Amino acid sequence: KPIMPPDLSKCHDVTAPALHNHCCPPYNPSQTILEYDFPATPLRVRRPLHLVKDDQEYMDKYKEAVRRMKNLPADHPWNYYQQANVHCQYCNYAYYQQNTDDVPIQVHNSWIFLPWHRYYLHFYERILGKLIDDDTFTIPFWNWDTKDGMTFPTIFQEQSSPLYDPKRDQRHVKNGAIVDLKYAYTENPASDSEIIRENLCFIQKTFKHSLSLAELFMGDPVRAGEKEIEEAHGQLEVIHNAVHRWIGEPDGYKEDMGDFSTAARDPVFFSHHCNVDRMWEIYRNLRGNRIEFEDNDWLDSTFLLHDENEQLVKIGDCLNPTKLRYTFEQVPLPWLGKIN
Ligand code: C2O
Repeated sequence: KPIMPPDLSKCHDVTAPALHNHCCPPYNPSQTILEYDFPATPLRVRRPLHLVKDDQEYMDKYKEAVRRMKNLPADHPWNYYQQANVHCQYCNYAYYQQNTDDVPIQVHNSWIFLPWHRYYLHFYERILGKLIDDDTFTIPFWNWDTKDGMTFPTIFQEQSSPLYDPKRDQRHVKNGAIVDLKYAYTENPASDSEIIRENLCFIQKTFKHSLSLAELFMGDPVRAGEKEIEEAHGQLEVIHNAVHRWIGEPDGYKEDMGDFSTAARDPVFFSHHCNVDRMWEIYRNLRGNRIEFEDNDWLDSTFLLHDENEQLVKIGDCLNPTKLRYTFEQVPLPWLGKIN
């Protein structure tokens, strides 16, 4: 059976000391729950950060949209921190699966990881667009799979900007350090050019090994009533975790990016995930868009995400991003070399 959305009236305190164990949204019993009506907006093109950072007009829009989101009333469903809490709710056990008393809904470590985050970004991006009245607005992707994108994006580092977050590992985000896609809280002693080479090889291997077996890339099945197990994550999720760890503070609860409960409070989260989403799309294209799992327990897994309404969405409807009306600007894939 597929994973079903939670009963919103039953949100629990969570296991998130960094957030004082709270991240439930304000509950409104008369909230409408709708089957998501897919948009008919123009096709939005997501672009790479290291190329758009000099596009002043775009950058101004982006910052203005996030500023407005942060300035909304604290309990507004579009408020930046309400949106960030959605991530906490689905990662830190705020909801249990229907008909169970203790099986949490957890969107990591399984085959629902990529689809859930795809929808999450989609709603976030559309809300930003609405706030600046631009239905072509996109979040930029942090192109960490290419040399020029392997440092922390400087636009998130201007202190006066709404994209800034002080809770980061300053050793990594400040000085143009090269991101280590295998980072696990020990510094890689290799030279910059060596780390770049290791990263590209690692991405290449990840794709090469998993092209014929989607579980390896996406994560293992998780079905209704089953608890997730950490080892069930796919290889793309593993790379993604390293980037989270590399940005979060090195001690404490590793806020913000290094802890599920706080990760989305750092605006770089969405550009990081934008690239994760892009890697999934590249993977699909390399497989001739073959469906990853011909399994209704996957295709019919259903989530609730919110903008002004609670929106019901199914995995089977997000496999092709054009249905969500976005795509990615094509950029060179320096790691692709020997894959096909
Ligand atoms: Cu839900 Cu990058 O994590």
